[in-house]
Amino acid sequence: MAKIRTALIGCGAISGTHLPALQKLENVEVISVCDAKEDRAKARAEQFGIPEYTTDWKTYLTRNDIDVVHICTPHYLHAPMAIALLDAGKRVLTEKPIASEVKDAEDMIAHAHGRLGVIFQNRYNQASQIIKEAIADGRYGKLLSLRAAVNWHRDANYYTSSGWRGKFATEGGGVLINQAIHTLDLLLYFAGKPVSVRGSVSTDVLYDTIEVEDTAHGLIHFENGLMANFYCTTVYGTDRPVEIELIFEKATLKTDAETLREIKDGTETLLCRSNATGPKAYWGTGHEVLFRDFYKQVEENKPFWIDGESAIPVLKVLKAVYKASETHGEIIL
Ligand SMILES: NC(=O)c1ccc[n+]([C@@H]2O[C@H](COP(=O)([O-])OP(=O)(O)OC[C@H]3O[C@@H](n4cnc5c(N)ncnc54)[C@H](O)[C@@H]3O)[C@@H](O)[C@H]2O)c1
Repeated sequence: MAKIRTALIGCGAISGTHLPALQKLENVEVISVCDAKEDRAKARAEQFGIPEYTTDWKTYLTRNDIDVVHICTPHYLHAPMAIALLDAGKRVLTEKPIASEVKDAEDMIAHAHGRLGVIFQNRYNQASQIIKEAIADGRYGKLLSLRAAVNWHRDANYYTSSGWRGKFATEGGGVLINQAIHTLDLLLYFAGKPVSVRGSVSTDVLYDTIEVEDTAHGLIHFENGLMANFYCTTVYGTDRPVEIELIFEKATLKTDAETLREIKDGTETLLCRSNATGPKAYWGTGHEVLFRDFYKQVEENKPFWIDGESAIPVLKVLKAVYKASETHGEIIL
């Protein structure tokens, strides 16, 4: 069977996760990479044995030999790139967030026609899957409450080394939209449809470097009556594993996304532990497993389940936190 032909735009940090994962897929061939900075595109092409590179992603629009395009560029570019590529008939898999603004994400959805996928790889973590099953089958009784905390470290150099970070116009926000989005997405994946949000944002340490927030907290109300509290910061001293806690009637589950612990009748049991290693293991290790699933749908000409509709609620929630912070009120979604 002919391989699916893929191109990737944005040869920065996350491309170093995409390209090795794509190389492991038997049904995919990466035929081109693109970066506005030629040296980056050339270096990735050489590193991964990709036959060509370019600095102009628009050349992909008229190419009949490209089926799928991965978007790994700054947040504000996801929408214009995805919309043009979708209109040109490509399948698109974009990095999170779907877009930097809700309106842009809605435009992407209008152009998608079942061909847009968004990367939320932590939904594929074994811990996430077990939690999802436990909520669905009721093995611990009703879910009563949940909370999450993200304590990571990003210093001034992280922002100054990539000019789009730290600015509302290009990043769309700070810790909420870039780092905590995975964890907020998991809260929604577990708890259901969010209906209102309260919260606040602040720039506690990096106020000389960035215009966006480095710290935020909030409370999400869900349609089913559940509430989720969260706290996130990128000014902790180091990167700690993400914490999510779920209180059920008969047990508590605690996960750092890679391990999952059950606390029941005073006994703590390890339910799963991922074999993730390496400095970026806290990102989650699901890119490869997400890609396998995505490309299976491409082969079968079916929509991918993490599509625009599935990816937009978390963007609406985190944008509501900014508004709630300004108005000191509850934002109805
Ligand atoms: N899923 C995850 O866990 C995860 C982790 C890290 C980053 N990301 C996401 O990946 C995306 C990229 O982040 P990054 O950290 O790799 O950023 P980066 O700044 O390291 O890389 C972005 C690259 O895009 C290139 N670029 C900018 N404009 C371009 C254009 N017009 N045409 C072609 N190339 C262009 C830049 O030159 C740069 O090399 C973001 O959406 C980010 O949120 C996801």
